[in-house]
Amino acid sequence: MSSPPPRTKIPALSELSLELETPRLTLRPVRATDVDDLWPYVSDPAFPKQMSWAAHTQKSETLEYLQSVEKSLADNTGADWAIVHGGKVIGKISLDSIRWEFRAWRIDRAELGYWLAPELWGKGLMTEAAHRVLVFAFDELGLHKITVGCFDDNKRSRRVIEKLGFRHVGTLEDDVWRDGAWHTHLRYELTAARWSDVTTTMPISRPHPT
Ligand SMILES: CC(C)(COP(=O)(O)OP(=O)(O)OC[C@H]1O[C@@H](n2cnc3c(N)ncnc32)[C@H](O)[C@@H]1OP(=O)(O)O)[C@@H](O)C(=O)NCCC(=O)NCCS
Repeated sequence: MSSPPPRTKIPALSELSLELETPRLTLRPVRATDVDDLWPYVSDPAFPKQMSWAAHTQKSETLEYLQSVEKSLADNTGADWAIVHGGKVIGKISLDSIRWEFRAWRIDRAELGYWLAPELWGKGLMTEAAHRVLVFAFDELGLHKITVGCFDDNKRSRRVIEKLGFRHVGTLEDDVWRDGAWHTHLRYELTAARWSDVTTTMPISRPHPT
């Protein structure tokens, strides 16, 4: 199947419902009052080592980040969801760098990002959350392509990406410097056409105990 053409009118995040449900999770836009739930994770110096940000040393940094997220939503350039499970925020997932146009081109794409509380890893929760965000991205927001990347030693993230049907498009050797070493990045993409092909057969419904 080929991807549909871009929508004539560029879709606006503000016109869509960002309240998303999955069998085990609620995804809703992060807000300033999430600061206390997020703090134990975002302030752990070891936690963000697979990601692009540094651990927060003060709650004001977390609040600043939450304000920047509101701005991205208003600018139509990003959406950040709190992942809620059992009434508590246990992670975050986002569509970042949403871009519709580049000069004469329509590009209609975004970058997927996510993290989950370590005590809940390995239960299929991020695959479940990301699947719902991809349904939103392609079917509701009308994006054409989602990109994602992870360090080559991030086996859990790599598995999430592969389970969702992303295609490996390249390996960027010694791509970024962090914690005293160069890290190699694996880059992936998923087009609307590929999504519609893989979505019927993907094994995300494999039961995981919670
Ligand atoms: C990456 C992350 C979001 C995964 O969340 P999760 O809910 O544990 O993911 P899932 O359970 O949906 O899938 C993880 C998969 O990795 C597999 N896995 C776990 N440990 C593994 C290991 N050491 N080697 C290979 N695969 C492994 C799991 O078995 C599972 O695959 P399966 O469903 O086929 O069994 C979570 O580990 C995390 O937050 N990590 C830190 C932040 C991060 O790395 N973010 C992404 C940056 S690119």
